[in-house]
Amino acid sequence: MTSRFLITGGSGYIGSHMALALMDAGHHAVLLDNLSNSSIRVLDRLRQLHPNGFEFVQADIRDDRLEEVFRRHPVDGVIHFAGLKSVGESRIQPLRYFDHNIAGTLRLLRAMDGAGVRRIVFSSSATVYEATQPSPLAETAALGTSTPYGHSKLACEDMLRSLQAADPRWQVAILRYFNPVGAHPSGLIGEAPQGLPSNLMPMLTQVASGRYPHLSVFGNDYPTPDGTGIRDYIHVMDLAEGHLAALAHLAEHARHLTLNLGTGHGTSVRELIDTFARVTGRDIPVRIADRRPGDIAVSFADPSLAWKQLRWKATRNLETMCADAWRWQSLNPEGYGG
Ligand code: NAD
Ligand code: UFG
Repeated sequence: MTSRFLITGGSGYIGSHMALALMDAGHHAVLLDNLSNSSIRVLDRLRQLHPNGFEFVQADIRDDRLEEVFRRHPVDGVIHFAGLKSVGESRIQPLRYFDHNIAGTLRLLRAMDGAGVRRIVFSSSATVYEATQPSPLAETAALGTSTPYGHSKLACEDMLRSLQAADPRWQVAILRYFNPVGAHPSGLIGEAPQGLPSNLMPMLTQVASGRYPHLSVFGNDYPTPDGTGIRDYIHVMDLAEGHLAALAHLAEHARHLTLNLGTGHGTSVRELIDTFARVTGRDIPVRIADRRPGDIAVSFADPSLAWKQLRWKATRNLETMCADAWRWQSLNPEGYGG
């Protein structure tokens, strides 16, 4: 059955891949975005694959017009990606992060309630787990975070759990992403950070394309086999399909889910660089730099609860993540070109 979903942050990195996954599954998407961290040109790319599968609304989730958006675009549920996502920037502008991420989410929930739409999937993050918790991280691991970004995610998680407990008409899926990377295999959409990338994979692709002369490896003295940090990289299309599985579960009357979306495999910075170089045939000049403040040595998921509850697990391997990220970068050296 075709359903209609509002995707906030729908022109962003994960939101645009989610839109394709939704439309591929036969659903209709309403994309809402204020374009603060994405390009309007994403829409042309989506249209190349699905000419009539979606609508776009340029709006801010904190805007008074939100009620009107729900009136004009009736939907069965919301997938909520809109927000600010840089951990470092959140330390410099904490109030801005609280405004977009916490006040914005509250504003969205009020508009949804007014429209009688009470089904939501929320983008949370592995950053909500207390830094000293050992990996693999199960959903029961202790929560705690030291950054305004992390606090904004935890505050939204708490708000959603509390709302659902107080009003059982709500259906809430909280999905904690590990490290989303890669791009749609078409090469039409991908991650297009503004300025110097802060995450490893986009930095790697831009060094490979010659935009930056070398990759800085932030620390090679961690207590890991090769001394570099270990993360759980997950293909963005696997992540999007995890959302589809969560939506299907909510449609079958599940009320509340809190799940990790990860592969369960830890990969070191060194391993990712070596795999990328092998898959793409590109040379990656590397320099060892100091540890990045706030980074932890190891973080990877225990993804077994998502398998148990949703029958979902990631299927794309590290080679595919690298090949798809590189296809996007090499076909679009300037991203969406402004
Ligand atoms: P992104 O910046 O590419 O996408 C977010 C989109 O939201 C952007 O298009 C931006 O223009 C829009 N936006 C921001 N504030 C808005 C507002 N107030 N109103 C309307 N639109 C607004 O980021 P992404 O990587 O696609 O991340 C999506 C979500 O997933 C975010 O909530 C992020 O915190 C979460 N997340 C991302 C990662 C990651 O590594 N990418 C990891 C864990 C969680
Ligand atoms: N790294 C480098 N060089 C770089 C960039 C990163 O060596 O130029 C290293 C980091 O030190 C870390 C690993 O690569 O060991 C991954 O770093 P990322 O910045 O790509 O990802 P993080 O795990 O630090 O953080 C990401 C998101 C957060 C989110 C978290 C968990 O940026 O928002 O995953 O989901 F909270």
